[in-house]
Amino acid sequence: MDLSTTYLGLPLRNPLVAAPSPLQQTPGGVVTLVDAGVSAVVLHSLFEEQVRREIDPDFERDQWFTNPAGPGAPARYLDLIEKSVGCVDVPVIASLNGTGSGEWTHFARQAQDAGAAAVELNFYVVPGQFRGHGEAVEDAVLDLLAAVRDVVSVPVAVKLPPYFSSLNDLAVRLVEKGADGLVLFNRFLQPRIDVAAETVQPVIDLSTPSEARLPQTWIAVLREQVECSLAGTGGVETADDIAAYLLAGADVVQCASVFLRHGRDHARTLLADLEAWGDAQGYASVADARGSLAVPWRVPSDHYERDGYVSALQVARRTYWWK
Ligand SMILES: Cc1cc2nc3c(=O)[nH]c(=O)nc-3n(C[C@H](O)[C@H](O)[C@H](O)COP(=O)(O)O)c2cc1C
Repeated sequence: MDLSTTYLGLPLRNPLVAAPSPLQQTPGGVVTLVDAGVSAVVLHSLFEEQVRREIDPDFERDQWFTNPAGPGAPARYLDLIEKSVGCVDVPVIASLNGTGSGEWTHFARQAQDAGAAAVELNFYVVPGQFRGHGEAVEDAVLDLLAAVRDVVSVPVAVKLPPYFSSLNDLAVRLVEKGADGLVLFNRFLQPRIDVAAETVQPVIDLSTPSEARLPQTWIAVLREQVECSLAGTGGVETADDIAAYLLAGADVVQCASVFLRHGRDHARTLLADLEAWGDAQGYASVADARGSLAVPWRVPSDHYERDGYVSALQVARRTYWWK
């Protein structure tokens, strides 16, 4: 199977993209990932707060933000982009984590000028405000996209959380506002409660394969409904997990945990196994396989999903009837 694909209008040699993680915090880390075969690298995220604390004199007074990276993070991030771009022959994508528009979004332009081939916006909001409105959350991500779209000419992708009441509608509106791609999904921090110490620990666990099902479900729903690139992220452990994302309709799959667990070099194994899978299934190219199992256009996806749920319950009833 020819592994080449296109993402955000960028031609890529295969659909395996390095998702933001600590593995690409240095140009050396980026080079090792690319040498192992990934077709693009999304750098770790720079946070809105890290930019704002450098440009907003009132920031320290108004914000509750520990800045582990210390002052100067934006300048160091630009340096990382520039050095990484100089070392590799694949797209390097900047990742900005934010909650809405504002002057800080001009940093996206600086990222482009430093050589970023695209910008990925990680919209990370936990709407815990007392009586916060759902619409306000959706407006915030649309505003963030519009603000960045205004200052850059490179493609822009939006990495979203899964928890919207109508993800399809939001996806369509993001594409109308100029999103070139959607990345499904970002990881919602779920702190661990240590019952012995009675403390709350902020932790990011490495993913497990079952986590791929939620993004795969939504990619299958959205594939025929939106005209933009779709990246799946979450739960890849083997090439079969990548293949499942492609069948659902993803153009690329972004991975972090599998590299953190097995090393960057594991990209070689994933790519060889993916190619073997495609050959065995008789697919000539990624485009051939992509979306084979997406929800077909004109099938009402809400009915389709309810029917799937009932079928799953039937299987469970048959499996556990004797218990
Ligand atoms: C240790 C760690 C750090 C991460 N840092 C970022 C980050 O800076 N920005 C971001 O958008 N996602 C970040 N992620 C999320 C990953 O990019 C990825 O989307 C997610 O982990 C799902 O992919 P996976 O199952 O292959 O890990 C991080 C994940 C891990 C495990």
